[in-house]
Amino acid sequence: MSALSELYEQALKARTRAYAPYSGFAVGAAVLSSSGRIYAGCNVENVSYPCGTCAEAGAISAMHAGGDRLIKDIVVVAGGSKLISPCGACLQRIFEFADKKTKVHLADLEGIKKTYTIAELLPVAFSEEELGK
Ligand code: THU
Repeated sequence: MSALSELYEQALKARTRAYAPYSGFAVGAAVLSSSGRIYAGCNVENVSYPCGTCAEAGAISAMHAGGDRLIKDIVVVAGGSKLISPCGACLQRIFEFADKKTKVHLADLEGIKKTYTIAELLPVAFSEEELGK
């Protein structure tokens, strides 16, 4: 199995563990880090709605806790009739641990359907330069 197929399978598996009783919208994500390790996440909602977290946020937290710092590929999978893109906040989260080559793969229940660079999805990102450091 290719690294990308494995990444997709891990995102799909994580999606089955989503906790989405309020939206009914399960999302899975999986990150392939520069070390070759895979970290997965799912959305975890909360009765206090703003406390819910996205699948990408979970996968990125797991990656950082695992000691990795660079996202090589990230797959996001949802089950609706339309492909979903990471939300604005998650694009910023991905940007933090991305480089120019990082790929964001959008998938449905059949497989990966579209692939973008982070610059294509977040062309004018808020970055360290804006801090003036
Ligand atoms: N969601 C994600 O997990 N990732 C995204 O990229 C978009 C939205 C979740 C948040 C919420 O639990 C549900 O999908 C509906 O918005």
